[in-house]
Amino acid sequence: MWKGRFQSETADLVKKYGQSISYDWRLYPYDIRGSLAHAEALVKAGILTRAEHAHIKRGLKVILKEIESGAFKFRVDLEDIHMNIEFTLTKKIGDAGAKLHTTRSRNDQVSLDVRMFCRDEVGKIDALLAGLQEALVEAAANAGDTVLPGYTHLQRAQPVLFGHHLLAYVEMLKRDRDRLADSLSRINVLPLGSGALAGSTIVLDRNLIAKLLDFPAITQNSMDAVSDRDFVAELLFDLALAGIHLSRLSEDLILWCSAEFGFVTLDDAHTTGSSLMPQKKNPDVAELTRGKTGRLTGNLVSLLTVLKGLPMTYNRDLQEDKEPLFDSVDTIKDALAVFTEMIAGMQIQADAMHEAADDPFLLATDLADYLVEKGVPFRKAHEIVGKATAHCVANELNYPELPLSQWKKFSRAFEEDVSEVFDLQRALKKRKAPGAPAPANLKRQIASWRKKLG
Ligand code: ARG
Repeated sequence: MWKGRFQSETADLVKKYGQSISYDWRLYPYDIRGSLAHAEALVKAGILTRAEHAHIKRGLKVILKEIESGAFKFRVDLEDIHMNIEFTLTKKIGDAGAKLHTTRSRNDQVSLDVRMFCRDEVGKIDALLAGLQEALVEAAANAGDTVLPGYTHLQRAQPVLFGHHLLAYVEMLKRDRDRLADSLSRINVLPLGSGALAGSTIVLDRNLIAKLLDFPAITQNSMDAVSDRDFVAELLFDLALAGIHLSRLSEDLILWCSAEFGFVTLDDAHTTGSSLMPQKKNPDVAELTRGKTGRLTGNLVSLLTVLKGLPMTYNRDLQEDKEPLFDSVDTIKDALAVFTEMIAGMQIQADAMHEAADDPFLLATDLADYLVEKGVPFRKAHEIVGKATAHCVANELNYPELPLSQWKKFSRAFEEDVSEVFDLQRALKKRKAPGAPAPANLKRQIASWRKKLG
């Protein structure tokens, strides 16, 4: 298709090395839709007759059907999806097909296709993220008032509701969705009309094309338009971060279903056995997801590295954007789908959680707060409780076992009502500031998420 100035054939190795059809074939629906809109603008500019336009439309529709039915033969020597479609069209309809590429370059064409791909996938990924949010919210509702220790440094810290813990992930996923929604404003800009880099002497109505293809905006600089892959890098970042969120949830799940924690049981459908050890039930889905985060992060770094040293404008290096993009999109979609199922099938072991949370030491801060309410400055209160704790540890006691007379030795501020501090449910109820894990807050949060997601 560009053989005019060449005397001899491209080397076979180069054809193999340079082809992208083995993966960019999946851009075909966008390539065809883009060509249909481009053809309309060519009619308006007087380049194509109505009859030629009709031929192009019919030809492209036949090609679409052939690709969808599997009858279309993709040719490696035609390099990419753009040339495969255009070549086949011209073979089918002759000269009209050969006119289609007027003013257009594969440089603006590929950017268009990738943008359309990205916006479609953003929609699908958003729906999957919402699905996982829903599964987590329902799991939180099922957990009710189940208490478990909250951890910092993976050391038991303070009691929280399991539902509150799960909703932390719902918040993360919300930010992922917000980021994706925001990225659309940069994805959804029409590059077509930029030509190879400098537009064309034949002027098409770019706004018409934008309207036909549902782009709310058009690019304002032809050189930037053909070299820009920021929107891909941004999407890869968004997907990497969503993957990192899933990876952190994976890590929690892996810990929770270990015998040491025993907080949840995963459904047989979402675990696997060991070929050697008959007793094993492994959380492979969570482990794989944690592992796949490496690819998601790698794909982002891969593209950033491709972009880093590029002079203006289009450089063939940019062909290397697609494999990381496709891989990240596929990976995150699979991960979200399987996670949603797994969370829905997860069983909560409330007794094990309660047992782990039933440690009055987790209420050390509450004890300090108790003293604060009796007028002791917090730093002092912290020290007093620290000493009382050291005493308990040395004597293998826990707070409720200390008599009031002993408490009084640590501080005169302790009174009879100190025993109330060790009531776990009361401790949670008191944490009622917005964002804190009081049961009433959790109920409100669940209701508000259900409304937002419903
Ligand atoms: N397959 C190419 C890509 O993905 C399409 C653009 C090629 N442009 C060019 N001038 N060779 O980037």
